[in-house]
Amino acid sequence: MAVTINTLREYKQKGEAFSVLTAYDATFAQVVSEAGVDVILIGDSLGMVLQGNDSTLPVTMEQMEYHTRCVAQGNRGALIMADMPFMTYGTVESALENAAQLMRAGAHLVKLEGTDWMKDTIRALSQRGVPVCAHLGLTPQFVNKFGGYKVQGRDEKAAEMMIEHACELVAAGADIILLECVPAPLAARITQAVKAPVIGIGAGSETDGQVLVLHDMLGITPGRKPRFVKNFLAEAGSVHEAISTYVSAVRDRTFPAEEHTFKA
Ligand code: KIV
Repeated sequence: MAVTINTLREYKQKGEAFSVLTAYDATFAQVVSEAGVDVILIGDSLGMVLQGNDSTLPVTMEQMEYHTRCVAQGNRGALIMADMPFMTYGTVESALENAAQLMRAGAHLVKLEGTDWMKDTIRALSQRGVPVCAHLGLTPQFVNKFGGYKVQGRDEKAAEMMIEHACELVAAGADIILLECVPAPLAARITQAVKAPVIGIGAGSETDGQVLVLHDMLGITPGRKPRFVKNFLAEAGSVHEAISTYVSAVRDRTFPAEEHTFKA
């Protein structure tokens, strides 16, 4: 049966962890969805892992639309989430127009990076039938404001603010929260505080779901490996087995382990 937003809500209610993985083309979308991954993310990480840029900022709407169409062709029942690229949701009007393009290309929901300033945008999208995932914590589109890829929410004031923003965004209509690179205890507090399912990457094992970038978990991303990444291909006989192992490890909460987690 196809995964919907309701499936993720049921997982949260039952305390069952679900898996999310990026894919950018039809072949991987088929492999990933047939392996039991619940949500495929067409991440703007494609700007780094496919295009070789040092950030996600150069990614365009045309590129996201193209990759979303490819993924929709190969998908076998996963929920398809597409990233809105940098500055394509800077105003409510631009967000509505650009989200519509991604939904027409086959996305089931869109992901936006930011904080409380996104409330009106999320409300407008939600009221018009576009489910939204709000990405908080280390939001890569803000790398130039952060001065690098750094763990967020480390001090109590920043942690309290992130909890507040997550609650406000869910109240505005966000269906999912995604937390990137935040200390595990903070991610656990946010997961408890909101009724929406929470997906984590570098956010510990207590979020409702986990996400990784496909190239990272296959161990083929060049350069330094972030702490939260595990190479699932290293001990698997095939790409298919690596992805199935990831799905099982998320489900039984053996991934992420201590060594993939930021404590504070
Ligand atoms: O673009 C992406 O792949 C993402 C994940 C890192 C969550 O946003």
